[in-house]
Amino acid sequence: MSRVYCAIDTPDVGRAVQLSQAIAEAGCGIKLGLEFFSSNGSVGVESIRRACPTIPVFLDLKFHDIPNTVAGAMRSVTRLGVQYVNLHASGGAAMMRAGLDAVEEEAARLGIVAPKVLAVTVLTSMDESALTDVGQSLPVENQVLRLARLTQQSGLAGVVCSAKEIKLLRENLGHDFVLMVPGIRPPGSDAGDQKRVMTPKEAVDLGATHLVIGRPITGADDPQKAAEDILSSF
Ligand code: C5P
Repeated sequence: MSRVYCAIDTPDVGRAVQLSQAIAEAGCGIKLGLEFFSSNGSVGVESIRRACPTIPVFLDLKFHDIPNTVAGAMRSVTRLGVQYVNLHASGGAAMMRAGLDAVEEEAARLGIVAPKVLAVTVLTSMDESALTDVGQSLPVENQVLRLARLTQQSGLAGVVCSAKEIKLLRENLGHDFVLMVPGIRPPGSDAGDQKRVMTPKEAVDLGATHLVIGRPITGADDPQKAAEDILSSF
């Protein structure tokens, strides 16, 4: 299973299929998020899977609703045959367990491997002042650790976290916990709007299990080679 998931942030299915083919050749997976899914829905995901039947897919839709609704959404995305799905840990333990149970039941019913369920703790766009505004406890790292612990206690596979949280979470949550990390840049590449970046090797050495890397691959002249170079860099 690949450790690098390339963020395909486009509403254009044709472009997404073309990038996915290059990325599959390199041996990486793809991350499809709200931009792609809001434009193309399940049909868009199926188009990519038809063109690249074996490519691992992380469907990054960050569900957050009452447990019954999240369970229904999770059941639906399980039918797409993806490898990772996610939800917000701040939806609470009951919501996370309902989502996980729905994924496992639906996968068993279909006779397929269940996607792993990850949680988002605190969005990295939220600074201390934004967290105070919504009544969440400070400092940010305490809230991230609290929600990651709740995620683990709820039986989920892991969390999506920023590079600066890898060490804290790995030290506190043991080794059998997925840390899927965006904000990664190969040495010398443009950080874009990412404020604090880490190289693939630094992140993996600290304990990241999976890396999410978008524009350094999708914006390269040769996305396949860019992805291959990243894979051989750690
Ligand atoms: O192009 P780039 O490598 O910056 O893409 C990173 C991807 O990871 C984007 O899809 C972005 O939405 C996502 N992401 C992130 N930071 C987070 C959570 C998700 O960059 N904290």
